[in-house]
Amino acid sequence: MAMTSMERAEAAEHAMSQELDRIVVKSVIYTSGERDPREPLPPQQAQGKLYMMGPDPRLPRMPEKPTLFDFFKYRFGPSAHVMQSARLARKNGVGEKIVLACLLHDISVMGFIRGDHGYWGAQLVEPYVDEEVSWAIRHHQVLRFFPDESFGYKYPDSYIRLFGKDYQPEPHLQEAYRRAREHKWYESSRLITVNDLYSFDPSVNVELEEFTDVVGRHFKQPKEGLGFDQSPSAHMWRTMNHPSKYL
Ligand SMILES: [Fe+2]
Ligand SMILES: [Fe+2]
Repeated sequence: MAMTSMERAEAAEHAMSQELDRIVVKSVIYTSGERDPREPLPPQQAQGKLYMMGPDPRLPRMPEKPTLFDFFKYRFGPSAHVMQSARLARKNGVGEKIVLACLLHDISVMGFIRGDHGYWGAQLVEPYVDEEVSWAIRHHQVLRFFPDESFGYKYPDSYIRLFGKDYQPEPHLQEAYRRAREHKWYESSRLITVNDLYSFDPSVNVELEEFTDVVGRHFKQPKEGLGFDQSPSAHMWRTMNHPSKYL
């Protein structure tokens, strides 16, 4: 009998984990929807193998004390979008804190979790940046859904293509928007959306080093390395560093 696509995926995964010294069990959030999270996990043929509890050999090894740029280099997906947005923000003459916010605004999409990425991204950086920066990152996601002509910000055409013309932000987002509008840092977050490039130019090359100075001045890199300090979001950086740990 032919395998279903789910069985094929599980078989491929099983084969993959066979090549590793350690057994990898994916977190529920990686697979939920592809498989029913209520179902028991397929049996692992352990055969004396140990479970993954450290660096995953399939990933580039991170330095012992990883910096923000190490995550850009070794764990995040392509960063042209955020770097071009930060460059544009700088060209438009915004302050350095907003340049940093633009550089970091989508790191959750790039390296962690997509849904509610503004909130996750803000939480990741919160212990290391000025409160205004994390506030702006947290709210840029919801502000993207709402035009503001006074800043020349229109509802993105790309969102119509991506979500359909009938998409309406859910009530909790409407409420988040209403509150953000009244906040003293509304403009800071709005400036992220204004400089958020929808269609970035693949031929333009921006290097991370262009932002070394801004990051140096406004991102408090922990001396133990991101993930190994005792900050409230250190565990999130550790998860990006070692995404396949069993516990
Ligand atoms: Fe975003
Ligand atoms: Fe963006």
